Amino acid sequence: MYVAQPIEWTENGVVMLDQRRLPAEEISYTYVDYREVAKAIREMVIRGAPAIGVAAAMGVAIGVQKSQANSVEELKLEFTEICDTLARTRPTAVDLFWALERMKVRFTELMASNSEMNKIREAMIAEAQLVHLEKKATDEAIGAYGAEYMPREGQVMTQCNAGALATGGIGTALGVIRVAYQQGRKLHVLVPETRPYLQGARLTAWELHRGGIPLTLITDNMVGHFLKTGKVGAIVTGADRIAANGDTANKIGTYQIAVLAKENNVPFYIAAPISTFDLSIPDGSHIPIEERSSDEVTHIQGVRIAPDVKAAHPAFDVTPSRYIAAIFTERGVAKAPYTESLRALSNAARPAGSH
Ligand code: MRU
Repeated sequence: MYVAQPIEWTENGVVMLDQRRLPAEEISYTYVDYREVAKAIREMVIRGAPAIGVAAAMGVAIGVQKSQANSVEELKLEFTEICDTLARTRPTAVDLFWALERMKVRFTELMASNSEMNKIREAMIAEAQLVHLEKKATDEAIGAYGAEYMPREGQVMTQCNAGALATGGIGTALGVIRVAYQQGRKLHVLVPETRPYLQGARLTAWELHRGGIPLTLITDNMVGHFLKTGKVGAIVTGADRIAANGDTANKIGTYQIAVLAKENNVPFYIAAPISTFDLSIPDGSHIPIEERSSDEVTHIQGVRIAPDVKAAHPAFDVTPSRYIAAIFTERGVAKAPYTESLRALSNAARPAGSH
């Protein structure tokens, strides 16, 4: 089954598929400057929480690889600037900060044991590639756990794009749907278009169609109607940040879907890696919500669709954990009370070799 590749480390640099141009055009760019990688994250060439994390790790690696520093001391100074630049891109997806922290830990280890610049460069590139590889394995595990909760047949719903394009693996929410479908479950996916950036219409519809999974595209304001009348068996979405009590930030519009799901007795699930947990915050009120340009609301693909008026664009909303039936992770399934189940999964033994 076709799996999109949003990002790859190559000998020539970091190659990214431009998700802003999909589905009309499949264009890739090769980045050799960490500042360009940061710009690509900010401007949504690459998006989706885990994929942003992979891009940040590769951004750090390319920054170290191309550094003009003449000494380890100089490299240390530049390293801080590289990480800070990448951290200032998108505030909500905690995977970004998780990946930067992981690269910092590796860099500190290398600095303590090595004085050879080339060894440090090679090891940082290897670490970024490992982050990517681990994301692929993580998605497979999330898919296997979550597939059990999908109906044997019938309609399921998602939101935004939590597919291969958003992770660099098979996807989280779409990974669950993909694994369930491959197991022989006869699923049909309802895909809300996900205004204003249209990740549903442009990306999820494209991915499912390319993968041969049946879908119907709906507009965001059809969600309530279909949950009431459409015999939807389950909803599964991704996450950008999950607080200690299970409150979950995801693409704007997710909250209203979760509330309507409860009203209509449809189970609402989250699929996300442990790297999306932020157990340092007690609940969702502490999650920083990215405000994006109002132009993305007043324009579609550069074409103005509204008069020149004020437009709001919070890019994410927070779904209180009471609406979430379960959270699928690579280490198992969390259920309420989430404060305990998330902590237990976070502390569970990690596979050998991972961090
Ligand atoms: O603004 P985006 O496109 O980066 O938002 C993406 C989402 O909200 C996804 O649902 C989330 O990052 C999970 S991706 C596996």
